[in-house]
Amino acid sequence: MQRLEVLARQLTAVVAVEDRTPLLATKNDYDTMYKRSIQDPEGFWGELALGYHWDRKFPARGHMAANTDVRRGPVSIQFFAGGTTNLSYNCLDRWVAAGRGEQAALIWEGNDESERRTVTYRELLAEVNRLSNWLKSRGVQKGDAVTIYLPMVPELPAAMLACARVGAVHSVVFAGFSADSLAQRMVDCNAKVLLTATGVMRGTKPVLLKTIADDAVRLAAKAGQDTSSVLCLEVANALAAADTPWNPVRDVWWHAAIPMQSAECAPTWLDAEDRSFLLYTSGSTGKPKGVVHCTGGYMVGVGVSCRYLYDMRPGDVVFTTADCGWITGHSYLAYGPLLCGCSAVIMGGIPTHPDGGRAWRMVERYKVRQFYTAPTLLRSLLQLGDAWPRQSDLSSLRVLASAGEPMNEHAWHWFHEVIGGSRCPVVDTWWQTETGNAMLSPLPCAWFQAKAGSAGVPFFGVCPVMLDPTTGNEICTVEAEGVLALRGVWPGMMRTLHGDHERFESAYFAPYKGYYFTGDGARRDADGHYWITGRVDDVINVSGHRIGTAEVESALTEHPDCAEAAVIGVDHALKGQAIYAFVTLRGHVQAGDAMRKLLMDHVRKSIGPFAVPEVIHWAPGLPKTRSGKIMRRVLRKIASGQEKELGDISTLAEPGVVEMLIKLRGK
Ligand code: WTA
Repeated sequence: MQRLEVLARQLTAVVAVEDRTPLLATKNDYDTMYKRSIQDPEGFWGELALGYHWDRKFPARGHMAANTDVRRGPVSIQFFAGGTTNLSYNCLDRWVAAGRGEQAALIWEGNDESERRTVTYRELLAEVNRLSNWLKSRGVQKGDAVTIYLPMVPELPAAMLACARVGAVHSVVFAGFSADSLAQRMVDCNAKVLLTATGVMRGTKPVLLKTIADDAVRLAAKAGQDTSSVLCLEVANALAAADTPWNPVRDVWWHAAIPMQSAECAPTWLDAEDRSFLLYTSGSTGKPKGVVHCTGGYMVGVGVSCRYLYDMRPGDVVFTTADCGWITGHSYLAYGPLLCGCSAVIMGGIPTHPDGGRAWRMVERYKVRQFYTAPTLLRSLLQLGDAWPRQSDLSSLRVLASAGEPMNEHAWHWFHEVIGGSRCPVVDTWWQTETGNAMLSPLPCAWFQAKAGSAGVPFFGVCPVMLDPTTGNEICTVEAEGVLALRGVWPGMMRTLHGDHERFESAYFAPYKGYYFTGDGARRDADGHYWITGRVDDVINVSGHRIGTAEVESALTEHPDCAEAAVIGVDHALKGQAIYAFVTLRGHVQAGDAMRKLLMDHVRKSIGPFAVPEVIHWAPGLPKTRSGKIMRRVLRKIASGQEKELGDISTLAEPGVVEMLIKLRGK
């Protein structure tokens, strides 16, 4: 009897720590829930939404309405109408009330590994309340836009949550954007208040944010936009407060103003459809689009996806490498983990500084359970070799998530085997700024059968369709390839583009009537799994063959000597377009014609002769935005010798790369 008890205790201990069954434990669980989400979205989402706090409950029926067909009038989407809630209350107060006040809400490390800070749920709530009171004292009211231009410090999520608390609409501008871009975004949303910092160190490079912010405020003023208050955070090691340019009428020091405020601030209860935030993103044409997300739907979409897809639970430590300036940082660093009662790791600086082991040491230090990153970062870490991850104990990891770009098979296996010890599922999710939360994902119940490079199957409420790009007709066979569009609506979906509902309709709902157009191409395999082939605007047509740039890149990077590749289409007299590949070799590999031939043969073998690049251009580095996206526009100009027409390259992480590539053309 005694032995049995001991055994049972041991078993519960093991079960509690190790064997945590995901919410979608079987394929049947998924099928049942998914089916219901499509057949009865109102009932389905209504029930899941009750897992959050509503000050006034929405009615069980009649809370949802949508029209996504431009032929039937204006596009409109609403969920949980009639209900009132507050995102910051659900992220913070709820957990403090549940006894998690002393648990870490944010775990921060700066650019230097020695800079560390933990902020508990109770402390974060107090800071958010003080900031909320300050915003109110500056006349910020419900619906007003506030621009946030901060580096990756705990004050950044705090600022977002403070806006949410008072009903202000935050617009986070990634702190790598230029003054021009910042000004443009401030003017577009009429932001009168700006939250910024003295500066930040990125690797060995200081970035003087306040100086850029000042320029932006000046530029905005020229465009007729007055900024009444600039709240400035002093960030150690970047620039001393005394050296910071200052306008005493307009500028306020964070350390002087915020601690004076009361740490109590009742949340403003917002209608579910009240705006929550704006996030600017690039379209294929025109100026950046201000994607608008609302309160209730975004909260439920993000929270539910964190629970069901990434298995986030109270107490889990989640490390998302994305910057809060992008949607992944909004949904899966700031809001999502806090909605789930997790501890979110927030990292300043860059994950490869001071060396390739930085991110992995952090995983060990904080016992990270969910590690969420992007293929670009994986590839750069992979390039630094296996020795770095092997130096750290990564046994706490359970879920490896990724989003933002197609993941090539090589990176997938490295992630799965070297980082996850073949123990952790790779949850490669496809989604967009516009969708708010993950849309396609491998299933938790079948994580281990996930196919390397596939974005998996639809999340609840998501109805992907494959459209024939020429006729616009839906391809109804299981196996299909075409334009990826989505039918129907889901709670986390954007509601409009700020100040331009017409553009919202024409960019997303007019190209294929009745559907949301994603801009991506995809393939659906015999098992109904989706494979993203890249943006349809990046598809190359060579001698009548459609080739996804992502496909060729994946083929190239499968080669063990290739670290990274970027493929574009260039005009070709005979073939229409030819494939032009920029290739970064692994450190020890010699560039040259022999290597070129090897890579070409590899692509020929992997896809077919039509996919063999016409040109392989050696690239010690690729021009990337600071968020890690390769700037193909720049590559196209370099490839075609039009370097005089490069346009704005101010958002490049390393502008020096461009010169280097020009020199290597034809080499
Ligand atoms: C691409 C990032 C392949 C896609 C969350 C999409 C992906 C664009 C994946 C949105 C993925 C995102 N596999 N491609 N798992 N996830 N994409 O708005 O082209 O920065 O349209 O949102 O990234 O980028 P955004």
